[in-house]
Amino acid sequence: MTLSLTGVDFTYGAGTAFATRALSDVDITFSPGEVVLVLGATGSGKSTLLRIAAGLLVPDAGSVTLDGRAVRGPLAVVRPGVGIVFQSPEMQLFAESVAADVAFGPRNQGLSEEDAIVEARRALDAVGLDPEEFGPRSPFSLSGGEARRAAIAGVLAMAPGYLMLDEPTAGLDPSGRESVRDIVTAARESAGVVVVTHDAEEFLGHADRVVLLSEGRIIFDGRTEVLVQNPGRFTEAGLRAPEVLRAQMLAQDAGVALPRFALDPTEVASLLAEAWSGPR
Ligand SMILES: Nc1ncnc2c1ncn2[C@@H]1O[C@H](COP(=O)(O)OP(=O)(O)O)[C@@H](O)[C@H]1O
Ligand SMILES: [Mg+2]
Repeated sequence: MTLSLTGVDFTYGAGTAFATRALSDVDITFSPGEVVLVLGATGSGKSTLLRIAAGLLVPDAGSVTLDGRAVRGPLAVVRPGVGIVFQSPEMQLFAESVAADVAFGPRNQGLSEEDAIVEARRALDAVGLDPEEFGPRSPFSLSGGEARRAAIAGVLAMAPGYLMLDEPTAGLDPSGRESVRDIVTAARESAGVVVVTHDAEEFLGHADRVVLLSEGRIIFDGRTEVLVQNPGRFTEAGLRAPEVLRAQMLAQDAGVALPRFALDPTEVASLLAEAWSGPR
């Protein structure tokens, strides 16, 4: 199930004095089993890109296709569709229990009460919330990290072919961030995963591919390893490169001849040590 955006333009308030161009000539293809990181500064069009990919906004020009067929209307309601986890999704928890909240999506997709409950339990398991313990609880009794996970479960329960998350770790403590990272990377087993963030640090080591957005245009789309070897691209996108890459750029500027850049600190340490001790 391939999801493609082709030649997509989008302007908010088109034809008014407040018209804001959010996306220009965006071409992008998502594939199952792949974790794609969409990085860009605030206002670069990331959230708009997600809404268009999920069928929630209709592009002014260009097309969105799922397996070559034009997309009409929201893709969350179909199975397998495109599930979107909005920013601070826990704000939208509403039901009297976590189980009812998570079962809402699959029930809305037309599943029987029984099947919706099965899907909700599966999704709660997938986010590490024991259905027996957390299912009966009020969503409002959860910690911030638990509430975020419950909200993600609500989308996973709809068995999306694509899971799209907008700034999924924003506002969480380090352990909450780690568990969201784990959930997101595990989701690739059953879905294509698209993570949108302005934080170049957070998911880079977990992404197969990175797309850099700048002022509504794609300025890079390639394998993570390729971007890591070209850290100047982060600056072009108005972002700071991850600290570990900045350290290597500074070492290089100081005359240390690194054979390549790396993300893993242990690998970086041995590359630096080798470069300093000279060729063997
Ligand atoms: N509902 C809206 N109405 C008008 N302009 C908007 C709206 N949402 C976003 N924009 C504008 O569109 C551009 C892209 O926004 P957005 O997709 O939210 O970017 P990002 O998620 O990268 O911060 C920005 O200039 C933003 O101000
Ligand atoms: Mg946004």
